Amino acid sequence: MNRLTALDVHLTPADAERALREDARAGLTATPKELPPKYFYDARGSELFEEITALPEYYPTRTERALLAESVGAIAEASGADTVVELGSGSSAKTRLLLDAFRAHSTLRRYVPQDVSEAALRGALEALGAEYPDLELHGVVGDFTKDLRFLPKRGRRMIAFLGGTIGNLRPAERAAFLAHVREVLEPGEQLLLGTGLVIDEPTLVAAYDDAQGVTAEFNRNVLHVLNRELGADFVPEDFAHVALWDAENEWIEMRLRAERAMRVRIPELDLEIDFAAGEELRTEISAKFQPVSVRSMLREAGFDLVRWWADADRRFALSLATAV
Ligand code: AVJ
Repeated sequence: MNRLTALDVHLTPADAERALREDARAGLTATPKELPPKYFYDARGSELFEEITALPEYYPTRTERALLAESVGAIAEASGADTVVELGSGSSAKTRLLLDAFRAHSTLRRYVPQDVSEAALRGALEALGAEYPDLELHGVVGDFTKDLRFLPKRGRRMIAFLGGTIGNLRPAERAAFLAHVREVLEPGEQLLLGTGLVIDEPTLVAAYDDAQGVTAEFNRNVLHVLNRELGADFVPEDFAHVALWDAENEWIEMRLRAERAMRVRIPELDLEIDFAAGEELRTEISAKFQPVSVRSMLREAGFDLVRWWADADRRFALSLATAV
C-alpha cells in the first residue's frame, strides 16, 4: 500500500464468527425461522451475486449503474463533497464512476470504502491506489449495520449507500440505520442512497426467481455457509427456492421451503432444529419504495432531500440528501 492508503479493521474473523453463531441460533429457533441475508456472501455467494447481476431478469444493478452513469455529474456538482465514503463497497464496481465525476466537478481528496470483507477491500485499495495516485484512500473493514462511528471524520463527506441494499433491512432496522448514518455526519454532510422502486409484480418476481435458477442457488448458499462454518448437516437440495411479492409491505421475500420433514444438526451451536414438510425459512426481504416514501424515510432520519434521479421506467432511484 502506498503512503496515501490506510486500512482499519473493526471486524475480525472472530467477531464475524460470533455474529454468525448468535444470528443463526436466534433465527433458527424463532417462529417463523429466519436467517439474515448478509450470510449469503461468502466467496461462492459473492460469485453467485455477480452472476445474478448479469441475468436478463435482474434489472436493479444495470439500471442503477446506467442511472449513476448519466446522473453522476449532476450528483457531484450538487454535492461538492471532498470525501466519498462508500458503504458495502465490495469490489468497488461503481466507485470509478463516482470518483471520476467528483474529481471533475469538485475538490475530491479522499475515498473511504467500507466493507465486511477485508480481502475485497485490500484488492480494491490496491487497484485504486494505482489508478488514482493522488487520492487519499482509507479502507474500513466493518459491519455498517452495527457501527459507523469508526468512519474517519475528516473532510466534507458524502456517504454513498448504493445497490438498493437498504431494502434488505426491515423497517425498524432501516430507520435505525438511517438515524445512525445521520448521527455520525455533521450538518451539511450528505447521503447518496440507491433504492429500488415499486414496479409491476411480474417484473419484480422474475428478478428474484430467474429462469436459470441462479438466484435459487444463491438462496440455498446460506445453508452451505452454515454447514461449513457451524458443522451443520443441511441438505440444501432438499430446500426449494421461494420468491414472492408482499404487496402490503412492498417487499420481495425470499424463503427456503423444506421439501420434506427433517431434523438438522448444528454441532457448533449444540442445537437440533426440526423442519416440518413445507415449512419455510425466511432468508431475505428486498423492499421497494414509492418516491414519497423515500423522501419521508429520509426526513424522519434527519435528512433533507436535495435532489433525486430515476431511470425512464422508474425502476430505481438515487437520492442525494443533506444532514439537517
Ligand atoms: C444486495 C440489495 C443488491 O436485494 O436485490 C439479489 C440482493 N437478492 N437477488 C437485492 C439479491 C436476491 C440484492 N442487493
